[in-house]
Amino acid sequence: MSTPHIEATQGDIAKTVLMPGDPLRAKTIADTYLDNVTQFNTVRNMFGYTGTYKGKVISVMGSGMGMPSIGIYSYELYTKYDVENIVRIGSCGAYSDTLNLYDVLLAESAYSESTYAYVQSGTYKQHYTYPSKHLNERLEAAAHELAIPITKGTIHSSDVFYRERFDDYKTIRDDHGAIAVEMEAFALFHNAKQLGKNAACLLTVSDSLVTKEATSAKERQNAFTNMMEIALSLAE
Ligand code: HPA
Repeated sequence: MSTPHIEATQGDIAKTVLMPGDPLRAKTIADTYLDNVTQFNTVRNMFGYTGTYKGKVISVMGSGMGMPSIGIYSYELYTKYDVENIVRIGSCGAYSDTLNLYDVLLAESAYSESTYAYVQSGTYKQHYTYPSKHLNERLEAAAHELAIPITKGTIHSSDVFYRERFDDYKTIRDDHGAIAVEMEAFALFHNAKQLGKNAACLLTVSDSLVTKEATSAKERQNAFTNMMEIALSLAE
């Protein structure tokens, strides 16, 4: 039984799915970290894989960029494939000078101007959505165990990457407490809550809106390894 955007059959996908934005990143994760890998999706090249990490099962699939895209994939995974946990693993831009490039961040809430939550469920206009407490506790414990420092805080899920008014970020940071920006978590957290499922979001800082520094692809890879080790601890 496939869905409009995922061609897997029931049972092909693990209870826990890690979602990088880039489907080729999903392939790299499967190639690098997983054993006994099977590919469950190629529709639109949004690659998805299931495998084992240290003998425990986990899946990894691209989400695409932005809330409409992760909204579609997470909804189908939660409702049609019995997925319980989705962890977004991505990059973010720092809004705060307390964050350094390559820091690993665990989202405690996502602020957004997006109408995603309101349009999706029509319940009420909300600007913050939240990850699963339980997943966050597990991820935090794993980071501690691995001796990888993490920063916890509110992130901004933005619908727009290229803003004409560059300084807008300061208002969002100061008025809404967001320490970094990405483009997907708000919708993922909303879907999880509506469907009685769990979601979390781990990010590495790839650039800073404060200092205008940016990382190279190679440097990002190293930082990514820390985040992956934390996320892979959720394999069951
Ligand atoms: N904006 C939005 N998303 C991002 C950024 C950014 O500056 N950096 C990494 N993800």
